[in-house]
Amino acid sequence: MAKDFLALNQYTKEELDALLALARDLKAKQKAGVGHPLLTGKSVALIFEKSSTRTRISFEVGVYQLGGQPLFISSGTSQMGRGEPIKDTARTISRYCDGVMIRTYGQEIVEEFAKFASVPIINGLTDLFHPCQVMADLQTVIEHKGGYAGLKFAWVGDGNNMANTWIEAAAIFGFDLALACPQGYEPDRQVWEWAQAKAPGRITITEDPEEAVRDADVLNTDVWASMGQEAEQKQREIAFQGYCLDDELVGLAKPDCIVMHCLPAHRGEEIAESVIEGPRSVVWDEAENRLHIQKAIMATLMG
Ligand code: CP
Ligand code: NVA
Repeated sequence: MAKDFLALNQYTKEELDALLALARDLKAKQKAGVGHPLLTGKSVALIFEKSSTRTRISFEVGVYQLGGQPLFISSGTSQMGRGEPIKDTARTISRYCDGVMIRTYGQEIVEEFAKFASVPIINGLTDLFHPCQVMADLQTVIEHKGGYAGLKFAWVGDGNNMANTWIEAAAIFGFDLALACPQGYEPDRQVWEWAQAKAPGRITITEDPEEAVRDADVLNTDVWASMGQEAEQKQREIAFQGYCLDDELVGLAKPDCIVMHCLPAHRGEEIAESVIEGPRSVVWDEAENRLHIQKAIMATLMG
């Protein structure tokens, strides 16, 4: 098992399945009011260089439920925001804490943090990946569909951190993934090539959202401008015309499909109000499952 949780590609299918199984067990325990103090006496630093609602709250509450102490650290009010090197921060925090979650920009930042830290590092979103979210989403798919094997997943929209992580997931877990992204907004090339080599033919890409969603079991989308891309909002709104996950597109998928969005959502842009609020939407389950899967990841790496 890897020391850190920076990207799904560090793990085998069996290891990720074990995390999903533990998340299910911890969820059941929490619902039943059965204690699960797997991080008693441990402190986990939660570093944010970008905004967050779900990630911050689910990690803070998750550490608390495991019997540990969460420490919220915003880069702007720490010495990180004044330019203290990542490698110095990583070594310092390792002397106090038993693990670190970090949300930041470049994937190389979490990699450098992990290289210099002696404690486990969890990626709470970078520009390249959002692995905790996709694991929560897979837990949600398993709950609603009984598993992920044999399902067709579709991605409509930006080839962003979520799309890249879904590509890795499809290659590792072995399910079909059809992406529809506008030209110029495709997923990361290296991630794409890695996945194609690992699972040839499993993952396809088109510019036609109808083609991607046709007969899909799981529909997924995300904002058109991610954190850090706010200045591109207008130009992206033009480029992504026709990529709104609306009732018409959902109507092309399987009648019992589920619709996912990691949130926050922009209603009327990447997803229609009627879809996110509609009967196929499982977005609140996804949000909840962040808590359970992250507890499983922390308990496994730091427990
Ligand atoms: N989905 C997600 O990571 O949400 P936050 O940005 O609110 O943490
Ligand atoms: N792609 C989005 C996900 C937010 C949870 C972003 O990076 O802003």
